[in-house]
Amino acid sequence: MKDIKPYINEHKERFLNELIDLLKIPSVSADSAYNSDVLKTAEAVKISLETAGCDTVEICETEGNPIVYGEKIIDPKLPTVLVYGHYDVQPPDPIELWDSSPFEPVIKSTELHPDGAIFARGASDDKGQMYMHVKALEFMTVTDQLPCNVKFMIEGEEEVGSESLATFVPENKEKLANDVILISDTGMIAQDVPSITTGLRGLSYVEVEVTGPNRDLHSGLYGGAVANPINILTQMIASLHDENNHITIPGFYDKVEELSKDERVEMAKAPFSLENYKEALDIDAVYGETGFTTNERNSIRPTLDVNGIWGGYIGEGAKTVIASKAYAKISMRLVPHQDWEEITELFTTHFKSLAPKGVTVKVTPHHGGPGYVTPTDSIGYRAASKAYQDTFGRMPIPQRGGGSIPIVSLFEKELKSKTILMGFGLDSDAIHSPNEHFGVFNYLKGIETIPLFYKYFTELSN
Ligand code: BES
Ligand code: MN
Ligand code: MN
Repeated sequence: MKDIKPYINEHKERFLNELIDLLKIPSVSADSAYNSDVLKTAEAVKISLETAGCDTVEICETEGNPIVYGEKIIDPKLPTVLVYGHYDVQPPDPIELWDSSPFEPVIKSTELHPDGAIFARGASDDKGQMYMHVKALEFMTVTDQLPCNVKFMIEGEEEVGSESLATFVPENKEKLANDVILISDTGMIAQDVPSITTGLRGLSYVEVEVTGPNRDLHSGLYGGAVANPINILTQMIASLHDENNHITIPGFYDKVEELSKDERVEMAKAPFSLENYKEALDIDAVYGETGFTTNERNSIRPTLDVNGIWGGYIGEGAKTVIASKAYAKISMRLVPHQDWEEITELFTTHFKSLAPKGVTVKVTPHHGGPGYVTPTDSIGYRAASKAYQDTFGRMPIPQRGGGSIPIVSLFEKELKSKTILMGFGLDSDAIHSPNEHFGVFNYLKGIETIPLFYKYFTELSN
């Protein structure tokens, strides 16, 4: 395969400008006010795939946001790579904490990114990472070096649970048939430490509601004499962890995959600085389950976290009131073998059992999905490993990730192929946070590495 670097150098500005144009469209899937922008983004992705060389591209309508599907089949006898990504983004809130507007991308240098980083919602998660694949395809078609078939499936509901894709995939197995699924929607250890994500955590996301009296009450007239839903809710939540930060829901750990000592020793070899970790977050200590390291706590161990909590008076000044209702949104990150639907039930039963007399509790499950682990001896993993060795000059480190892409395990179940998670983001990219950004270095390195994956995957498949 021809060296891609001259091509990147020549087209770098255009690659950046095209991504910037895509980032300007606010494709927030969680908020229906952005519906027309979501559709505009799907249209833009379609055009980009056509321009990059796909033979057919379609916008597949669903009950929710459309899925963009494109393909270039050069020879049915050759292997097929299915690229998955998402064009939807998280809401930009809280907007006031952004240094520049979330949908007016700017390139700025930072300590970690002397060559600049693109600041915008979706820059790293996932428009920037998805678009690396579009530009890699462009290079391979323009230079006539695409070594195998390629299919693209870019969805618009990843950030809200991929509901439509979960119906689309089983209904389109033949169309989506492939030999490997390639995704860039995760991160790597550091700019000079490439890594391949070998696991994702599962998820169960629930909302809880505690109801006390039938109306908000004067906290002097009634205080002390009726259950205060906010007091009760916070007590219930506090009791979900014990003094070792172990989750107290009965049965929660029953199916948790325990790693062997050797596997944990292997994991601990990945470069990690606790000092830098704390410094980057401005915290004086880390916190978590007793008996596990920070890297274990955020990847191979399940967790329970309140993501939002509200109720009562939160306006200016004081209002003496006992609210009728209190609410919280709770996420549980799961590890392999934990069944997310079963965990949702265990949570519901336990949480309701915690309620004292005087309140009622409602639990509403949102979405979820199983975790995923991928082996390091597959053809796909080896191809990715060789690609990174060429472009980074060193072996990538296998790393279990803490985040979730719940649809990945469905891909394996329905399409019977392995997923390779070649992420080029960094934990410091601030995905889902204000000032999300993606390094120009990372973006271009991704474009450089992806074609080599195609090359090695095709060679190793023979
Ligand atoms: N790209 C992320 C997941 C991710 C990021 C995995 C970094 C590993 C490393 C994805 O877009 C995401 O945010 N997923 C959600 C789950 C979804 C059901 C809302 C998550 O992990 O919270
Ligand atoms: Mn993502
Ligand atoms: Mn995300």
